[in-house]
Amino acid sequence: MIKNLFPSPIYYSPLRTTGAKALRLDLLDDCLKFKRIDEAGAEWSKRNYPGGYTSYGSIGHLHEVSSTAEELRHEIDKHLRKYVRYLEMDINPKHLQMRTCWINIMPKGVAHTMHIHPLSVISGTYYVQTPKNCSSIKFEDPRMVGFMASPPRKAKAHERNQRFVELKPEEGHVVLFESWMRHEVPRNNADKERISISFNYDWV
Ligand code: NI
Repeated sequence: MIKNLFPSPIYYSPLRTTGAKALRLDLLDDCLKFKRIDEAGAEWSKRNYPGGYTSYGSIGHLHEVSSTAEELRHEIDKHLRKYVRYLEMDINPKHLQMRTCWINIMPKGVAHTMHIHPLSVISGTYYVQTPKNCSSIKFEDPRMVGFMASPPRKAKAHERNQRFVELKPEEGHVVLFESWMRHEVPRNNADKERISISFNYDWV
């Protein structure tokens, strides 16, 4: 018998089944609009997100300033509840609330190195535009720090035995993970911009 203990579930799903495309296109308009007018964000991105645009340092509560993003939050809430149920967290899911929500626009060549989302419980991303060959989101085995002399795994090992797993995002999909899970977005190789909206749910 083999028991797979201490798994790291990642939630991935289409945002919704009806009206998905219309909402995605409205969000795309929002992303491009904010990129155009958000001067503070452009300044912040120059220092912290070279080559790309993020509203993280300027409009970090997108769901409070855009009714389209508020609609997005409402949809993500439903997925969050499912994920919390699956994880069997012993809390009232209503006590997890979206507190930050921001835009990421990555032209070709831009990357976002390994990080976690401190002080949050669940984080995630909604994919607005994912051109062919654009970056994945890459997760690192959270036990990495303890591996010491553990041998590497075969290149073609099953996903569950890999040290890094990449998820190829699709437009209109949402990914959720626990905020302590280290992840990165490797260099974007697509000619077109990769556009997403990320968010954190905090325990309130
Ligand atoms: Ni992140």
